[in-house]
Amino acid sequence: MDIKTYLANRRQLVDDTLTQLLPPPGNQLDRHVESMNYSLQAGGKRVRPILCMAAAEALLGRELDPRLLPVACALECIHTYSLIHDDLPAMDNDALRRGKPTNHTIYGEAGAILAGDGLLTFAFELLSRDDTPGLLPAGGRLRLIHLLAQAIGPLGMVGGQALDMAAEDRPISLAELQMIHRCKTGALITASVQTGAVLGQASEAQFQALTAYAGHLGLAFQIVDDLLNVEGTPEQLGKAAGSDAHHRKATYPALFGVDGTRKLAQESVQAAISELVGFDRNADPLRHLAEYIYRRTC
Ligand code: IPE
Ligand code: IPE
Ligand code: MG
Ligand code: MG
Repeated sequence: MDIKTYLANRRQLVDDTLTQLLPPPGNQLDRHVESMNYSLQAGGKRVRPILCMAAAEALLGRELDPRLLPVACALECIHTYSLIHDDLPAMDNDALRRGKPTNHTIYGEAGAILAGDGLLTFAFELLSRDDTPGLLPAGGRLRLIHLLAQAIGPLGMVGGQALDMAAEDRPISLAELQMIHRCKTGALITASVQTGAVLGQASEAQFQALTAYAGHLGLAFQIVDDLLNVEGTPEQLGKAAGSDAHHRKATYPALFGVDGTRKLAQESVQAAISELVGFDRNADPLRHLAEYIYRRTC
């Protein structure tokens, strides 16, 4: 399969659906909605919604069911909220994101905090909408909401961000670093795949295999993010380069060097792919996505 075409097609679907779903302009909250939209439509690879769709496809094995799209887009809203808050002066204090000035440099700190709050809350509105009868078995929607809330809460993404901030300026062990990566980045990636698994009505064994795939992939994703922060340029990444060293962040390249880090990322990607051994060709997009995550340059 041609992964480039697959990604471009899926990305377009996500972009179009997000445009349709966001509250329409034309009221006193225009500036707030505009600030949410500014970051949401600034680009982005859309990896999390695409993972959700690919996991569902691995199980359903037919043309993408468009009823999945609002759930996939909710994942992108959550991810974008996390980026807006991650860039705030009190956190990573970054000026560039997705090739554009960060949200707070345009809308101010209060505006950016609220844009993040708005996107997070809107995601749960999308997830809990009951306008897709027949898509999920009874209780499925509640299961989705629960697994996602758990993944991005205090023991998941937000907890990981807290650990990341607390680890600045001090040496940490590999175990601590892995914990940070698995929480701040891996948890939402895992939940994205799990969401697709629930939508695809996975058996328990399939759900566990897809969860294991996503666990390796999430770690690889953040290892590559660390690597790109060392090797990439702001033009290529659309965000700051070299900033981890500047903030004395704990990263894989700081512990293992660039070559050692690349090898570890590759091992994690191979481990992810090997978890898919029980799946047929319908899981090829998931296999190619793992390779893409290793090879990506932005
Ligand atoms: C960047 O995520 C932040 C991390 C969690 C590592 P992405 O690399 O997916 O960023 P976008 O969505 O493409 O901008
Ligand atoms: C971002 O991690 C993680 C979340 C937003 C949850 P980083 O701070 O390492 O990612 P970038 O490099 O700013 O995208
Ligand atoms: Mg950060
Ligand atoms: Mg950051």
